[in-house]
Amino acid sequence: MRIIILGPPGSGKGTIAEKLAKELKLFHFSPGELLREEVQKQTTLGKEIKQYLDKGELVPNAFVTQLVKLELKNKKNFILDGFPRSLEQAKDIDDLKITIVFAMDVSETIVLKRLAQRRICATGEHTYHRTILPPKKKGICDYDGTKLIQRKDDKPSTIKERFKVYRKETIPVIQYFKRKKLLDIIDGTQDPETVYTTVKRILHT
Ligand code: AP5
Ligand code: MG
Repeated sequence: MRIIILGPPGSGKGTIAEKLAKELKLFHFSPGELLREEVQKQTTLGKEIKQYLDKGELVPNAFVTQLVKLELKNKKNFILDGFPRSLEQAKDIDDLKITIVFAMDVSETIVLKRLAQRRICATGEHTYHRTILPPKKKGICDYDGTKLIQRKDDKPSTIKERFKVYRKETIPVIQYFKRKKLLDIIDGTQDPETVYTTVKRILHT
């Protein structure tokens, strides 16, 4: 199975992808997560990437597409979380034989509230919400015991910019997959368990 999950910032792409990948044993790749890891390492490349992430802009298409192709090499089953985000990226992976594309639908107002409550672990792999999806022990990751932190791009001004980029660059991608009859729109305002059940029902798993 080859799944793509799209949607605005904070719409729950990572949350659903992490759970699906674990249950269906799919390779989960989020370019955003890998880009943040590179920034954390403070490499020359990381410093360059940081400029885009901090502004909420897309990292150049050719670079991210190359990253995705490298990561997906020889992978039969996968979930792509947050890629493609532009028509150029979508056309670059036309050969990937995608099974289905989910687009999470959540408004900017809801996202702004949600992201103020998001915390991630130091490895960047696990995501929480302080009230809706809290860790077992306050401020500590359930899986690796690291301290929970806030993402640097979760400032209201950067979230608004990410939303703007989403409308301009990614909405056309969603329409592109709709024309290809691969698209399912998911109401991302439902509680996480209902979102998950809806997705699983569509996948017949
Ligand atoms: P990326 O990391 O992909 O960020 P994003 O698209 O802005 O999405 P988020 O990760 O912020 O949110 P999410 O939808 O995963 O929601 P989550 O599950 O965490 O990209 C970051 C940056 O990298 C980009 O700005 C860009 O610079 C660069 N980049 C990435 N991909 C790129 C590409 N293809 N091309 C170029 N550049 C690229 O959930 C959010 C919160 O809500 C959490 O607290 C969670 O616990 C909670 N939550 C989840 N589901 C629910 C629910 N149903 N109800 C209530 N709360 C929920
Ligand atoms: Mg994410």
